[in-house]
Order: sequence, then C-alpha cells, then structure tokens
Amino acid sequence: MRMSEIIRKKQLGEALSHEEIRYFLDGYVREEIPDYQASALVMAIWFMGMNMEETAELTLAMAESGAMIDLSPIQGIKVDKHSSGGVADTTTIAVGPLAASCGAKVAKMSGRGLSFSGGTLDKLESIPGFRVDQDMESFMKIVNTCGVSIIGQTADLVPADKKLYALRDVTSTVDSMALIAASIMSKKLASGGDKILLDVKWGSGAFMKRSDDALELAHIMVEIGRRAKRETRALVTDMNQPLGHAVGNALEVAEAIEILRGEREGDLKDLIMELSAHLLEMAQVCSSREEALRKLKESLDSGKALETLAHMIELHGGDPKVCEDTDLLPRASRVVPVCAEKNGWIQFMHTDEIGMAAVSIGAGRKRKEDQIDPAVGLWMEKRLGDEVQEGEVLAQCYVNDEGSLSEAVNRLKRAVIIGEKPPRAGKLISDIVE
Ligand code: URA
Ligand code: CA
Repeated sequence: MRMSEIIRKKQLGEALSHEEIRYFLDGYVREEIPDYQASALVMAIWFMGMNMEETAELTLAMAESGAMIDLSPIQGIKVDKHSSGGVADTTTIAVGPLAASCGAKVAKMSGRGLSFSGGTLDKLESIPGFRVDQDMESFMKIVNTCGVSIIGQTADLVPADKKLYALRDVTSTVDSMALIAASIMSKKLASGGDKILLDVKWGSGAFMKRSDDALELAHIMVEIGRRAKRETRALVTDMNQPLGHAVGNALEVAEAIEILRGEREGDLKDLIMELSAHLLEMAQVCSSREEALRKLKESLDSGKALETLAHMIELHGGDPKVCEDTDLLPRASRVVPVCAEKNGWIQFMHTDEIGMAAVSIGAGRKRKEDQIDPAVGLWMEKRLGDEVQEGEVLAQCYVNDEGSLSEAVNRLKRAVIIGEKPPRAGKLISDIVE
C-alpha cells in the first residue's frame, strides 16, 4: 500500500477501505508516515468527507491506538457524559455528583480548555488541593466510594487523537464532521464507560455553528456507539449565549455549587437536570424521565447531591468546605462592571468572543504553555431577549491583571449586540438522538 495512492483516492472523493484507514493510522502513530502526508490526507478528508463506514473504522482504529481502559472493577453500569464544548458550560461538575447521588456510577475523563471553550479539569483545579491526575486504581476506588470521579485523560489514551488533533489545529481542519466524531468517540470508547451521553452544542459559542450540522454530528456519533456496542445518546443543545452566568474557572465551580444547593434556576440548571435524568435512565436506576427528575429533585432538596460533590472533592485531595463557603475559592482582586451603551434588547451574542474575552484576562490559555488564573472571568448579568437601558450592567469582569482589562471589556462590548426588538426565543434542547 502507498500513502500517496490513499491520498489521491480521498481527493477524488472515493471511500477508503478498512485496510487503507488502518495503514494510515497505524503508520502515522508509529511515525512511519510523516506529518506532511498525514496533513494532505486530513485536508482531503476535510474537503471530501467520510461515509459512516469509514468514520466508524477510523474511530475504532484511533481508540485502539493506545490503552483501552477496563472499568470492570467498578460495580454496576458505568455512564460517561461528554460535551462537545461551549461557554459557561459547567454542567459536568454538577451532573456527575447529582447523578451519582441517585445511584449512577459516573467515571469520567475530561479535557482542558480549548480555544474559547472552558475545560472541566481547569475548573476543578481551581478548588484548593484538587488533583485531577489520579492513577486508574484510585480513579476506580473513588467511583466505588462516592459514585463519581473526574480525572484527566491518561497519557496512553488515544495517542492517535493527540497527534491528529495537534495536526488539525495547525492545518485548519478541526471542523470536519467525520474528524470531530472520530476524535470524540475514540476517546469515549477507549475510556471504558458502558453508556455514553453526549451533549452536542450548536451556535455562536460552539464548534458547530448550525443546528443541522450539530444534529448530523449527533447521528454520526450515536451510530459509532451502536456499532461499537456501547449505548450512546445525544442531546443537541443551544449554545447561542453563555449557558450559565459564570465564564471562568472558580466562578463556574461556585455557580455549580449554588445550583446543587438549590439556589439558582435557569438554562444551566435545566440542562443539568435533563442530562442527569438521561444518565439515570441509561444507568437503569430509573425507568422513566419523570421518575428520574423526581429522584434528582429529592437529592437536591435533601442536600445529598451537594454532599456527593463534597465527598468527591475530598477524595481528590481538595477542600470540601468550598461547598459550604464558596469564598474559599480563589477570588480576583477587582470586579469591574461592563455597561450597555444604548437602550434596547439583547439581540445576539457572539458567544465565542465572550469566551475569548474571558481567555484574554487569564481564564484560559492563548498558547499551550500559558498558566491560567483560576480566579478570573466574567459574570454575565443579561440573557438573550432581556431589555436593557443605557448604563445598565451587562457583565462583571473579575480581574487580577489590570493590563488585560481593556481588551476584555472591548471584546465583551462587541460581542453583545443590542437591537431595537427582542430576538425569537431559542429552544434549549432541540433534539434527542438515540
Ligand atoms: N472535541 C474533541 O475532543 N475533538 C474534536 O475534534 C472537537 C471537539
Ligand atoms: Ca466555560
């Protein structure tokens, strides 16, 4: 087999055989195929796409490029939840403990922030002492003890994705449906959960800007799960504005805690409840959505969900007292309001730009080697459709480094569009694919 012939075949829009996909992937991981040939093939895939058969084979080949984790020492059905990436999406930190407090086993490997979108590991590390780098034995022990653990991906998990992702990042080929599906699902298959729940986001703060594309991506990933004999469900959800109020690590942890305390309502809480209800059904703890929602509400009301979060934090070496007193989380030295410059309705948000405004004050990384500041970020006061007066506060900026403040304020002002009439209301969950 020759790599140049495989590239030509895909350039012409033909489907690659299983053997050709394996030849490329295995050779690339073993560094027998150079980056320039891999990038030519990835670019051809970006233009011509892959059919379902090819996408599923690529996913399996990627998953098998490293360790396939065996979670059988954890009793019961292991469920995993994954978001395709968004802004102020702190669902995982609440969903994990909430579903676990009702009897699900949640064993989850998370990622770090990427571009405008926040990462669960960065958020958890804002809790003093919290360690995301647990070995497999302690990971499984934590799940067996409190029902939930969230850790970083181990070094040997899907090495093919680490190489391909870095290549796609610098060759402008991240946003290919087949490549995104294979990237996400290879990691889910390798990390060993029995059932996989996906939150596929669309809109101005997601990697998929159109709802049709997100729905198609959801179908592809659910089909990959079916072929791999892992039950997979996907919710297609709206990311046309920050999901919660907080954009930034400690601020998002505080918001998740407040939701588990029952102190906050809204889209973030609603999505946390829906995702958790699906997990309870998939874990066969409940047989209907209604029963699951009832059980989840009881757990919130009794404080059991919050206790489970505190227990998970403690088992990860963190300070569980943050659950009673969020002032123990890192705090920024200054809070600066950003105000509306005219009267009107919030008509549109460039949500990715809001994410980048938070990155610019240190909540995320501009380069791979950057340190993040756990304390900083934004608190969005307004939502799409809200009426505002000139001078009214749109958002609060939590900053430590004054030098970066003006960039963040300017980005934020450009990102929030005030118009003369309210927009049409969007639907938080547009589709459920199973
Ligand atoms: N998240 C991933 O893990 N991979 C992608 O390609 C896109 C989002
Ligand atoms: Ca975020």
